[in-house]
Amino acid sequence: MPRYTHPDERINSCPTQRDSDHMRCAKNDRPLLELSARTRKYTTTNTYKLKNKTLILIQFKLLIMRVVITKDYESMSKWAAHFVASKILEANPTPEHPFKLGCPTGSSPLGMYRELARLNKKGVISFQNVITFNMDEYVGLPENHPESYHSFMWNNFFNHIDIKPENVHILNGNAPDLLEECAHYEQMIEDAGGIDLFMGGIGPDGHIAFNEPGSSLSSKTRIKTLTTNTLQANSRFFDNDINKVPKQALTVGVGTVMAAREVLIMCNGHVKARALKQAIENGVNHMWTVSALQMHQHGNIVCDEEACCDLNVSTYQYFTDKQRIEGLVEHYIDMFD
Ligand code: GLP
Repeated sequence: MPRYTHPDERINSCPTQRDSDHMRCAKNDRPLLELSARTRKYTTTNTYKLKNKTLILIQFKLLIMRVVITKDYESMSKWAAHFVASKILEANPTPEHPFKLGCPTGSSPLGMYRELARLNKKGVISFQNVITFNMDEYVGLPENHPESYHSFMWNNFFNHIDIKPENVHILNGNAPDLLEECAHYEQMIEDAGGIDLFMGGIGPDGHIAFNEPGSSLSSKTRIKTLTTNTLQANSRFFDNDINKVPKQALTVGVGTVMAAREVLIMCNGHVKARALKQAIENGVNHMWTVSALQMHQHGNIVCDEEACCDLNVSTYQYFTDKQRIEGLVEHYIDMFD
């Protein structure tokens, strides 16, 4: 029987069971999972039946930014995908009450999208009742251009899952009236009842979506002129030619992302180390727009070891100690295997 126990309790305490909350084993009527009293205090537990398997989801009740440090890109992607899948399962969406998911582009979420598609094929989760809102799109790049965010999303995610095309929302960077397009996008998010979970990557300068350094932390969807840094970083997708990268984009604002009920940021590689440090250790600052996450009640950052190389040793130790105590990093990584 799997068992999660706070280390303080491992020696002395005999955990009491809250059996009524748990599905019981048909053979011997024992609960499928036993949680210590202390772990129960900080978690919610839900049990699901998936085909012939029983899945038990344990979620921490969070009121602080959670930082999860995983070994490498693959573990980060798996953790993120399983976290997202568990949120969708937990919400148990229906056509009347769909789950609203905010989606990023970039190389950071690619592994997560692959794993979510695998879980979808395996029958673990469905996207039938999921509505998506993408973060951003280049201005003036044809929708069918291989580097448009429309192409990216369909090629890397939507074509591989059971989402309904009418439930996909991506900003139109070729709209005749770009201001109107941005206002309409915000309205659609509001009409849908807000976003349940906004996922994101970050730029090396700590931007979320295309909220470049200096963006208002309460900004909403609008047109943004890209910095030379971002043009340089994204030129890798345009034959390494900075002149081919569109100079402007439509993007949700920092305020739009922060208005979501929960936010999950993925951050990997040395190139993101400075941004991660600014996001976690320094103050909320519009020059590192991801730092606004510090003000969010349900903010999560999942990163890999490489991205941690600029963190103070004490910061790194705190988060790794914390995750060892909570014991749920592996839990998410292995959740659906
Ligand atoms: C672009 C996108 C961001 C993304 C960033 C980082 O600027 N607009 O949403 O987070 O790139 O991309 P990558 O994950 O490829 O490093």
